Amino acid sequence: MSSMSNSEFPPVRKAVIPVAGLGTRFLPATKATPKEMLPVVDKPAIQYVVEEAVAAGLTDVLMVTGRNKRPLEDHFDRVDGLEAALQAKGDQEKLQLIRESSELADIHFVRQGDPLGLGHAVLKGEQHVGEEPFAVLLGDDLIDERSPVLPDMIAGYDRTGGSVIALMEVPHESISMYGCAAVQETEVDGLVRVTDLVEKPDPADAPSNLAVIGRYVLSPEIFPLLHRTEPGRGDEIQLTDALKAQARGDGHGVYGVLFTGERYDTGDKFSYIKAVIQLASRRDDLGEELRTWLKEFVAGLED
Ligand code: UTP
Repeated sequence: MSSMSNSEFPPVRKAVIPVAGLGTRFLPATKATPKEMLPVVDKPAIQYVVEEAVAAGLTDVLMVTGRNKRPLEDHFDRVDGLEAALQAKGDQEKLQLIRESSELADIHFVRQGDPLGLGHAVLKGEQHVGEEPFAVLLGDDLIDERSPVLPDMIAGYDRTGGSVIALMEVPHESISMYGCAAVQETEVDGLVRVTDLVEKPDPADAPSNLAVIGRYVLSPEIFPLLHRTEPGRGDEIQLTDALKAQARGDGHGVYGVLFTGERYDTGDKFSYIKAVIQLASRRDDLGEELRTWLKEFVAGLED
């Protein structure tokens, strides 16, 4: 699917990144630090996510922050003292590393106030986003840069004017950990129409094995729907509930793009550890050494 430049709908230009969750699955690390600042190898998870948005052409980024936004703001800002010290040492390589994040994008911040759910966090972006489509990226999902999904999602929006979600096929018994989509094929390869959404269904009741992952391209139709969404599961305003209303409603609807690339989950401790090992083992600078060590380590476990 390629992007249609002659879309009748306004272009997707902005990204909203909600980072105001409590991160309770990762305590105590997340007591004073947002979970999006946890390093995945040597970069905080949030930097991968901003890089992904920028790679898809979305250089206007709004972060919806919570009680501990300082580390996030600082990470995407210049750090005079550190830069001066590296400059004095003549360490250009590290200087470049710390400057990268501050030169990436045009980053804005808004406070969520009370963490009343992902839908509520997205609603906090309404004023900044205005009457435009926009992307939402969650920091729990890291998408491998070699298999990006946002470009196809943006192309899906350009074609339909509806919201577009990223769907990943998961083993049937695991669907209860995700939002699940009921879908119909469209005439476009790789693009399905979403007819319904169910949050964390019992596998017996799940309409498909298609799990919703943390990338969305939302049409501005979502805002009035979010305003009308009552708190649902966990007493939180769920984005899924507003999307369900959009899928069932008579606007431009909801579509899904099938994601078949590599994705790393950093939301809980075990999947985070796996993500760090997977990503590090692919790195040019660390991979070979890590893989050799891992084999020895695993052999030692079996003894
Ligand atoms: P999660 O469901 O992963 O919740 O949020 P959480 O609070 O971050 O983490 P746990 O489950 O307590 O460990 C999904 C995404 O929505 C954001 C989170 O930052 C995360 O990116 N979020 C969630 C908000 O910004 N505000 C909220 O009120 C809730």
